[in-house]
Amino acid sequence: MILIAGGAGYIGSHANKILNQKGYETVVYDNLFYGHREFCKWGRFVLGDLADKEQLRLCFKTYPIEAVMHYCAFCYVGESVDHPAEYYRNNVINTLNLLEVMVEHGVKNFIFSSSCATYGNPIEIPMTENHPQSPINPYGKTKLMVEQILKDFDRAYGIRHACLRYFNAAGADPDAEVGEWHEPETHLIPLVLQVATGQRPHIQVFGTDYDTPDGTCVRDYIHINDLAAAHIAALEYLKDGGVSTAFNLGNGNGFSVKEVIQTAERVTGKSIKVIEAARRPGDPPTLVGSADKARKILNWQPRYTNLEEIIKTAWRWEMSRTETRKTID
Ligand code: UFG
Repeated sequence: MILIAGGAGYIGSHANKILNQKGYETVVYDNLFYGHREFCKWGRFVLGDLADKEQLRLCFKTYPIEAVMHYCAFCYVGESVDHPAEYYRNNVINTLNLLEVMVEHGVKNFIFSSSCATYGNPIEIPMTENHPQSPINPYGKTKLMVEQILKDFDRAYGIRHACLRYFNAAGADPDAEVGEWHEPETHLIPLVLQVATGQRPHIQVFGTDYDTPDGTCVRDYIHINDLAAAHIAALEYLKDGGVSTAFNLGNGNGFSVKEVIQTAERVTGKSIKVIEAARRPGDPPTLVGSADKARKILNWQPRYTNLEEIIKTAWRWEMSRTETRKTID
């Protein structure tokens, strides 16, 4: 059985669905702080916090867990700059609890949601896994600290791990059973789509004076189901005896904030009102990754290589839940 810590969240819920489709048994462990009970439609569910080691131990005693996928984290770059203590506690200390309980129960395989935010400002594009890791915000630092802890846990306790460094997770389950739902929402694509549905009056573009082709930040958007598929490939890699390592997960194509907005206008057929605003602290100008290593070693191939296709799935999800949501000022 696979323990999905944070399986009620955006990325974990998509992985849970695909794991179950592939015949894996899963148990979601989530405190529902940011996650949604409605997203736990597959496998078992345990309401629990990683801060609560006793509850974690009970979960490991109850279920025959053979591997852990760890998605629990606070993930707002801007918020991490303002509230670093919460980020270090939740993302680092709570992960340490999980790892210690794994050691106690002899569970050896760990798939970690890491991030391209561990790299910091790029010195070369596309970034490979060998790019220096020098994060520029507390969120990225928490992810790097866990990567370092994992190396020591491998050496000392034999916990083998795959650190999956995502670029920008985007899109939704094409059946719209789960999708992107953050409270508050801060991510570009859902916010832009909420302007298209009329729930928000405009989108603010954070910074138009970056050293990029159109002055706005460039990101590498990777579909959520492609991320989920990579987790399963990484799990199988570890089960087959693969050594601990890190993999970038991205498409290798960068899109600016303005290009995302224009693509969303094409997909939705709506015009999206833009307000130019100041830079958001902690944002690197460009993040684009090379995922050649994952392609070679995990035999992983993103299926959604076109931004329009990614946004279409996000739009379907946004439309499917628009009626149940209140208008946000
Ligand atoms: N942006 C805007 N206006 C908004 C929201 C975002 O202009 O209202 C811009 C941001 O400044 C950034 C880009 O759109 O340049 C993408 O922003 P997101 O918030 O969607 O994503 P981030 O790149 O900040 O962060 C996401 C995840 C992190 C992860 C990071 C890696 O939230 O967990 O991708 O790039 F680390």
